[in-house]
Amino acid sequence: MANQLCIVLDFGGQYNQLIARRVRECGVYCEIKRFDTPLEEIKALDPMGIIFTGGPNSVYDETSPHIAKEYFDLGIPTLGICYGCQLMAYTLGGTVESCTKSEYGKIEITQTGGKLFKGVPEKNIVWMSHTDFVSGLPEGFDVKAISEDCPCAAFECPERKLYAVQFHPEVTHSQFGKLILHNFLYDVCGFTGDWVMDDFIETTVAKLRERIGDKKVILGLSGGVDSSVAAGLLSRAVGRQLTCVFVDQGLMRKDEGDFVEETFTKLFDMNFVRVNCKDKFLAALKGVTDPEKKRKIIGTEFYNVFWNKIREQGADGFFAQGTIYPDRIESGKGNKAGQGSTAVIKTHHNMVEMPSDIQFEGVIEPLGDLFKDEVRAVGEKLGIPHELVWRQPFPGPGLGVRIIGEITEEKIKILQEADAVFRDEIRKSGIENELKQFFAVLPDVRTVGVMGDHRTYDHLIAIRAVTTDDFMTADWARIPYDVLARVSNRLCNEVEHVNRVVYDITSKPPGTVEWE
Ligand code: XMP
Repeated sequence: MANQLCIVLDFGGQYNQLIARRVRECGVYCEIKRFDTPLEEIKALDPMGIIFTGGPNSVYDETSPHIAKEYFDLGIPTLGICYGCQLMAYTLGGTVESCTKSEYGKIEITQTGGKLFKGVPEKNIVWMSHTDFVSGLPEGFDVKAISEDCPCAAFECPERKLYAVQFHPEVTHSQFGKLILHNFLYDVCGFTGDWVMDDFIETTVAKLRERIGDKKVILGLSGGVDSSVAAGLLSRAVGRQLTCVFVDQGLMRKDEGDFVEETFTKLFDMNFVRVNCKDKFLAALKGVTDPEKKRKIIGTEFYNVFWNKIREQGADGFFAQGTIYPDRIESGKGNKAGQGSTAVIKTHHNMVEMPSDIQFEGVIEPLGDLFKDEVRAVGEKLGIPHELVWRQPFPGPGLGVRIIGEITEEKIKILQEADAVFRDEIRKSGIENELKQFFAVLPDVRTVGVMGDHRTYDHLIAIRAVTTDDFMTADWARIPYDVLARVSNRLCNEVEHVNRVVYDITSKPPGTVEWE
């Protein structure tokens, strides 16, 4: 049976995916749709509730996203957030004005009851970010919360099941934000919370079995979270009808290729094909120092090897990949991916075309409806090791973007060893969970040092550790000095050809997380 559906209607705000994730965290399945989705289409989807997102615009600007007044006659319980709240008021005859003082950040509101605020203290903190505000309500609406500068921080018309908040309940800075969303979903819309990961595994496995029948499936496994979890699900569904192709270009972290192979061959029933092609990559990269050229060569070689392996195996049956919901939204395929044989293939940062001579019966994307944290939850339930499920992002070109200048076998070895020591020390110092990503870089720099009585002239290692919410911006992590001291000590003592260590204290922007 299909899950009960909540729609997040996207008006261009920055937190739209976050709203959808929060709704899912409340046990309610939800999808993001564009604000201009035709009303007929919305009706046909039969949502039990709709949330209007925020957006950067002003409702008075004609080019801003608007919604037809008839929408409000559909009788679907609706929550407007920020711009969505202003739009609801404006469309129904209320007034919206520019604030004399924008409200931004954590703001105290006083609430005066109503379904949204059940269980929420009278005074509580919410996250505001707006320059317009609702100054007059449409007929039939009542104010349900105010702040010092915002006379209509929340309002409602329960008869029409319309609710609105000027603040952002989806952001964790809103103290009771999740409860407010929960109240809307359960008490206003009547959702029962039928979106649970156990059911997801069961129903997906059943659907996969039905679709695949006795045919074969090929999946490109990178060792990243998404493709690993997709492999786990497919293996549970069709066992040895699944072949996973793992291309090891020799640019993985220390022992990582072996770890991936061991995990999947030991834990799961499937055919595992590992293609070791380090030498081919090194030959193609010989003498190349330009970062973009290096990336391009690594990407092109990867796909040459991958497609050739698939030609060799035979494009028989289905092609599967670990596309997740945000990939689909970002590539504009949000409404239709996962069906039919789209020949656009997910890669590390972009989508590539499948060569025209390779024709599968269809493309399978078992995780196409899930957010990353849901993928991780499924991975844990499937018994994929914690280490893999909670793996940090690792760039597609691997250590190739962390070795500055020409990539050589010797440099790969130095960096792999240095990176392993750095990781080990961070793990031991107990701060691993505070860091979103950390790794070593091998800049193309040698410096003079002294070891015992000898002068050395050897490699410099840079270490990088960042904290971030979304990797769009990042800050360098304030690793305690004594941890840095141990890392530096161990790198110089344990890793051959390293005689100096620096810590990268650049945030993003202006830097990027990776060095190339
Ligand atoms: P930057 O360096 O752009 O990195 O600040 C942001 C995040 O993206 C990762 N990254 C990549 N991931 N293929 C990937 O799959 C790539 O080519 C790539 N380049 C950067 C990076 O590790 C960080 O988490």
